[in-house]
Amino acid sequence: MSSTQLSSTRSAGSRILIAHRGASGSAPEHTLEAYRLGIDQGADFIEPDLQITRDGVLICLHDLTLERTTDVREIFPERSREGVESGQMVGPRTERRRTERRWYASDFTLEEIRRLDAGSWFGERFRGARVPTLSEAIELALRRTGVFPETKGPEVYGTKGFSMEKLLVEELARHGLDRRGARPATPVTIQSFSAESLEILGSQLGSNLDKVLLIDSPDRDGWLTREGLTRLSKFANGIGPAKALLREKPEAVQWAHELGLTLFPWTFRAADPGSFPSVATEMSYFLYDLGVDGLFTNDPGQFPRSPTSVTNG
Ligand code: G3P
Ligand code: CA
Repeated sequence: MSSTQLSSTRSAGSRILIAHRGASGSAPEHTLEAYRLGIDQGADFIEPDLQITRDGVLICLHDLTLERTTDVREIFPERSREGVESGQMVGPRTERRRTERRWYASDFTLEEIRRLDAGSWFGERFRGARVPTLSEAIELALRRTGVFPETKGPEVYGTKGFSMEKLLVEELARHGLDRRGARPATPVTIQSFSAESLEILGSQLGSNLDKVLLIDSPDRDGWLTREGLTRLSKFANGIGPAKALLREKPEAVQWAHELGLTLFPWTFRAADPGSFPSVATEMSYFLYDLGVDGLFTNDPGQFPRSPTSVTNG
């Protein structure tokens, strides 16, 4: 991709505020309430993570399973199955695997998921909040803000016969959002930890929407090197590194910009500003000292639109 393809974002020329799972520091993640609050707090984008229901509908949910953020245990007590909770090596070839009962979103129809309460785990005043569909999230965002959807676990859904990428492009098309710049008040950028998912979107589905590759810490695939970023620039036009990676390697900001790539580190939380005195100063350091293009935060109300004095960090 060339730098001339860089779009698109609503706040061109200024820093971009992405409400991570909505304003998820103040409202239950991935509910319309959290997205609405993020928009009210000035977010340039809301950020839906995507999962797929048994009947093939894209919903906004971070985990593959429902039990952390809904009351599925109480509503469907018999509908769990065993899932691997964690794996721990206890010898050179022996792994102790702890299993737990899990309620996979892909085992439930949309009609069933609509019965779940996705709010009261966060706070009683949010009781009755629902797991939204991507379509509902887009409807909320239209004409007000952008959408930054993440394909989550697309390979898992591939084994069930679903193409998350195709479903996403079809849903965006239903709202007239499947081409870059189609509705300028509602830009769309697609993100994924899966390079393959972004490649499918571009080379197989022909999507010209902006694409951001998420990079976890540690950077096992070496994306955050000059060579890695050059490879990445063939199928994406932005990177989303875990913020710790940029603390370790701030020179990567310049390398990425030289290739015409945008940078959106994650995740900035008021509850954990690390070595900074506040999340506002932490965000300011990344935005105005390191020079990233925008960031993901749970607390959009604290996003600094201009540099905030940083004496620590
Ligand atoms: O998408 C950026 C950031 O949200 C990645 O982490 O696990 O919150 O989706 P996660
Ligand atoms: Ca995400």
